[in-house]
Amino acid sequence: MKRGKFITFEGGEGVGKSTQAKRLAERLERAGVPVIITREPGGTPVGEDVRDLIMKDRPTDPMTELLLFAAARAEHVTSVIRPALDDGTWVISDRFIDSTRVYQGKRYGLEPELISLLERYTVSPDFPDLTLILDLPATEGVERAQNRGTLSRYDAERIETHEVLRKGFLEIATSEPKRCVLIDASLPVSSVETAVWQAVSAHLLVEAR
Ligand SMILES: Nc1ncnc2c1ncn2[C@@H]1O[C@H](COP(=O)(O)OP(=O)(O)OP(=O)(O)O)[C@@H](O)[C@H]1O
Ligand SMILES: [Mg+2]
Repeated sequence: MKRGKFITFEGGEGVGKSTQAKRLAERLERAGVPVIITREPGGTPVGEDVRDLIMKDRPTDPMTELLLFAAARAEHVTSVIRPALDDGTWVISDRFIDSTRVYQGKRYGLEPELISLLERYTVSPDFPDLTLILDLPATEGVERAQNRGTLSRYDAERIETHEVLRKGFLEIATSEPKRCVLIDASLPVSSVETAVWQAVSAHLLVEAR
């Protein structure tokens, strides 16, 4: 059986990750590809509890947050992502390792060496086959999240902080061009969907045939 492909959506607040993850899953289903959508933090009962915990009582030490996310990720990879991929199912995750690299690394300054060590123990060898980085000026992302009516504690950060996050994602896209595709998220939903589909077709569908 052919192994499934692993796709992640990344980018700042309100850029359209959840919207596009859902649309991509629908397209893949229509194309006859078995697919599941999952998210981080979350994706498993333990992961969802960790998500609630972090959203409710913000840890004072960023290290607490990093280790909680890593614990949730270990569970997510071993109990959801890896079994699905082994089974030939494609997996779409709404946020994954790059969010940790950017939020806990760039935003809070935790060491990249520690972050990559944790990746080695929680993710390796199941790194994403393709990462779609949705890029949008920080002000527009926060505005979208505000219009949606739900604003997490991350959304409420200063705009300068959101720009730091945006830059972090752009750096990842530049440094890992084989895995990452940068998508202009300022376009209408359907245009972004088309760009996402083009990237998936070019990177994964051709190869899967
Ligand atoms: N291309 C787009 N143009 C305009 N509005 C959009 C676009 N994509 C998504 N939206 C709207 O912006 C809001 C945020 O979208 P969505 O929830 O998908 O973003 P997100 O990246 O998952 O956000 P978060 O980081 O908070 O999880 C939603 O109300 C959505 O309908
Ligand atoms: Mg979302």
